[in-house]
Amino acid sequence: MTLTLHIVGTGAIGSLLAAGAERASHPYSIYSRHSSPDYVKVMSDDEQIVRVTALGSPLPRLTGNDVLVVPVKAYQVESALLQWRDLLSERTPVVLMHNGMGGAELARTLIPAQPLFVATTSHGALKERAELVRHTGAGETVLGFAPHYKVSNAQRNQVFDVFSSCLPPVRWHSNMQAALWQKLAVNAVINPLTALFDIPNGALLENRYQPQVSALCEETARVMTASGVTSTAPELINAVQEVARRTASNFSSMHQDVKHGRRTEIDAISGYIVQQAK
Ligand code: PAF
Repeated sequence: MTLTLHIVGTGAIGSLLAAGAERASHPYSIYSRHSSPDYVKVMSDDEQIVRVTALGSPLPRLTGNDVLVVPVKAYQVESALLQWRDLLSERTPVVLMHNGMGGAELARTLIPAQPLFVATTSHGALKERAELVRHTGAGETVLGFAPHYKVSNAQRNQVFDVFSSCLPPVRWHSNMQAALWQKLAVNAVINPLTALFDIPNGALLENRYQPQVSALCEETARVMTASGVTSTAPELINAVQEVARRTASNFSSMHQDVKHGRRTEIDAISGYIVQQAK
């Protein structure tokens, strides 16, 4: 059975997911945070444009034949879950997709009975204007159960199939805690440094930034290891460099947030590491 995809918000990754669903003719809806319908154009790297229409309120009631994906900023996860929790059946899977940590812990208190997954993607997407998202680079999506959650294999396969149709390629990860820490480490270096120095991701490969890159990786590896996910600074430096190379001309999401005077995800990224260290 194919699950209908429901996407919260018209952020860069949510819009990319909707465009993938539109292209694959996969049943989906995307919901705008505004009360009236909205549209977003998503431009792929070959300049093809897919237009998706985002629905406003009222939000629908979901069943076990639906999946709710929450690709919002870390600090919007709580309000999104509160907005949707009374509309979910106990069989509706929920997939969290945000930078930084803390979402799964929040979900455990707000929607404890829900089958819960987490996903991260290395596809690059940039929201250039309210109605225009650009797919800036191909990547892969990593999907798994949220830490301490386990659901049936049938439901796991259904959620996997949705992502395989809409945001491929997808890799199933049996230890998402490790995958999320790995992504967190990359974000904890690239996001604040690119925002502070006002540079694209690739500039971080220059020699002059290496002292900060190494110091952040050293500190993060120690906290990561103490939290039960063994890591070393050289491993994290390699991971950072790989992402900086692959997304060289992109501006990170935190760079964009600072540039546009928006709230950043620093608390869910660097703040989480500091909190775990304590
Ligand atoms: O937040 C971002 O911008 C992205 O997660 C990443 C991987 C740093 C690439 O720009």
